[in-house]
Amino acid sequence: MCGIVGYVGEKNCIPILINGLKRLEYRGYDSAGIGFFSLGSTHVIKSKGKVSLLEEKLNSHVYESHLGIGHTRWATHGVPNEVNAHPHFNSNNNLLIIHNGIIENYQTLKTSLKNMGYSFISETDSEVIAHLIDSFLKKGNELLKSVRLALSEVEGTYGLAVIYEKEPDKIIAARKGSPLVLGIGEGENFIASDVSAILAHTNQVVYMEDGEIVEVFKDKFITRTIHDEEIQKEVHEISLSLDEIDKGGYSHFMLKEIIEQPDSVTNSMRGRLLLDDGNAKLGGLDNVLERLSNCKRIIISACGTSWHAGLVGEYMFEQYAHIPTEVEYASEFRYRSPIIYPDDAIFFISQSGETADTLAAMKEAKTKGALALGICNVVGSSIARESMSGVYTHAGPEIGVASTKAFTSQLVVLALITLLLARKRGMKLDEGKCIAEHLSKIPEQITKILELNSQIEFIASEFQDAKNFLYLGRGFNFPVALEGALKLKEISYIHAEGYPAAEMKHGPIALIDENMPAVFIAPKDSTYDKIISNIQEVKARKGRIIAIASESDSEIDHLVDYTIKIPDTTSMLMPLLTVIPLQLLAYHIAVKKGLNVDQPRNLAKSVTVE
Ligand code: M6R
Repeated sequence: MCGIVGYVGEKNCIPILINGLKRLEYRGYDSAGIGFFSLGSTHVIKSKGKVSLLEEKLNSHVYESHLGIGHTRWATHGVPNEVNAHPHFNSNNNLLIIHNGIIENYQTLKTSLKNMGYSFISETDSEVIAHLIDSFLKKGNELLKSVRLALSEVEGTYGLAVIYEKEPDKIIAARKGSPLVLGIGEGENFIASDVSAILAHTNQVVYMEDGEIVEVFKDKFITRTIHDEEIQKEVHEISLSLDEIDKGGYSHFMLKEIIEQPDSVTNSMRGRLLLDDGNAKLGGLDNVLERLSNCKRIIISACGTSWHAGLVGEYMFEQYAHIPTEVEYASEFRYRSPIIYPDDAIFFISQSGETADTLAAMKEAKTKGALALGICNVVGSSIARESMSGVYTHAGPEIGVASTKAFTSQLVVLALITLLLARKRGMKLDEGKCIAEHLSKIPEQITKILELNSQIEFIASEFQDAKNFLYLGRGFNFPVALEGALKLKEISYIHAEGYPAAEMKHGPIALIDENMPAVFIAPKDSTYDKIISNIQEVKARKGRIIAIASESDSEIDHLVDYTIKIPDTTSMLMPLLTVIPLQLLAYHIAVKKGLNVDQPRNLAKSVTVE
């Protein structure tokens, strides 16, 4: 999604803005631009495509500037091109805006601005903001008031930054529904949509909330509500280091993040797993534990990979904690007038903590009186701050657009919550200890699976030209089938579908022939015999089969074309192991096809528009 960075201080802002934009590349974008004041006038340089192209353009000029803003655009209104890229000017070419989010009433505003004589050069919704602010400046207002008045007419979401030649010492930034953070330095200050853009310069940050606006000068910042009440904001110190957001010698962030999983899942359970008590301790749930363990129903709401984790959570909560559980796409939850009771508990799962659909669903649940809990990876993110209580996944920064280690950490947290609730609701000590013991072994078991990397790479080379794939699993591994298919389509652009294996005969079996590979997730669990029958059905129709199977299973080798053998664990934890080969398979297929694994086309790391 779009990214924002801004700087005011003594240094030349151009390299700071360019490096900040490079740090935001992982979010997904299709054009980039910067705007700044230099030698008494306002400059804008934009480029379609990568930030490196923007950088090349800048190389032919020598600019020195101490205040500027930069943007990466992920197209919503209007194609990706230079004209639609941000910053956008007002009509006098002396005011610039960059905007994340969507202005829902932009057509109405555009029409009235056109009636006032304004003309538009881009197809974007964002450009209206520049002219709207300009219309208030023309009435004699100062910049801050003009921005406030303009925003009072805007419907939709924004993370916004504005600079104005006539008030050249400050950036004005505002937030509604799109993340915005201030970075506080010595004699310099920053704004960004994401701390990674400014982490090289400061770890002192202020999180802006919806309805807040800030004037950022080089030596101070003044925060207000959009209704002009001055407010004091807390400065937070973030512990993230630059190393954590670097590739660390790997060819792709996605590979690094797959390989990191023994550590990331360890971090997710560190200090939380009580082996001797067969239990879990989750400080973030302490204050709501009574209400949570007595709830009548759990709803899990999320999007994409986090939604798949939620499906595994549903199986865990029902089977072990005996609490009826439903899983719902956040985007559907909000708009279908859900019936919510005060004794419902709703978990919102999000890696980024900024997904607009999930955030909106959480706000909806809160207004309906439910216990709204977050499971997030990014500390201080909007969903984490909006939740009544919750648990961080502690997977560490995930930069690759295709989510990998965040998923396994979400599963660990869901397993810990299951253990906590189940033990509170009557699970015996021995059973709790058995699950805890299995969970503690997961990191070393993942390490063992990662040793199969070259075997999986070879299988990938055999299937890289396939046009379609089916992923089939049952029980706890049905959501893994969905996740395996999603990974493949996201980064390799191969059409892939995940199904519960038994559903195959109700329709998808019509697709099976020698050109339709099927990936079966078939560990030795209670559904094993049934899944073997499903494998036979595919084999009988000449389908090529890759099976993820238990290392103790020697029979399956005769039935399928390729097997990837994984260690055994208890069924509820199996997804933590079965998903690893599927992540590697998708990764290697995409690399072999020469695709941009970390920034796949059309995708954004955090989807901050609905
Ligand atoms: O940050 P979130 O977990 O809320 O993101 C949800 C989805 O957008 C995300 O999982 C998406 O599906 C990923 N690209 C999956 O790899």
